[in-house]
Amino acid sequence: MQRILFVCLGNICRSPMAESIFRDMLEKRGLTDRFECASAATSDEETGNPVYPPARARLREMGISAGNKRAVTMTRDDYSRYDLLVGMETRNLAAMRRICGGDPQGKIRRLLDWSDRPRDIADPWYTGDFRTASADIEEGCEALLAALTAGAAQR
Ligand code: 4NP
Repeated sequence: MQRILFVCLGNICRSPMAESIFRDMLEKRGLTDRFECASAATSDEETGNPVYPPARARLREMGISAGNKRAVTMTRDDYSRYDLLVGMETRNLAAMRRICGGDPQGKIRRLLDWSDRPRDIADPWYTGDFRTASADIEEGCEALLAALTAGAAQR
């Protein structure tokens, strides 16, 4: 079982979308027994709040439920609890390293670094562009899952 934590600034837009999109991929491919995922924020701005309505609506358009997810802030303990901590943009990674007191095991990564076109995922909270965010997240989740399931050594 591999445990993955998706992380963004507020945990109401990008990382809950990543969690829901990745879980949907696992369900559709019969991989739910091999991976577990969750999401969290680097800030406490939105703690306890539900997924932002435009993010929820975009997921719904994709046929994916955001469930009853509420925002949580990541903690230092998450570093040992998860195998990968996946941020949406470079700025998230710096905050994640600060919260975790560094990254001695190289677990803190950026989602689109698994894609053919490494880049940040712009924050739709500021851009208003939930379609681009969801497409970028989908691309990253596909690339991440492909990397994690590649090769013969599947557990
Ligand atoms: P997210 O977007 O990091 O993709 O969840 C944000 C949502 C809320 C805030 C910042 C980013 N905020 O500062 O309240």
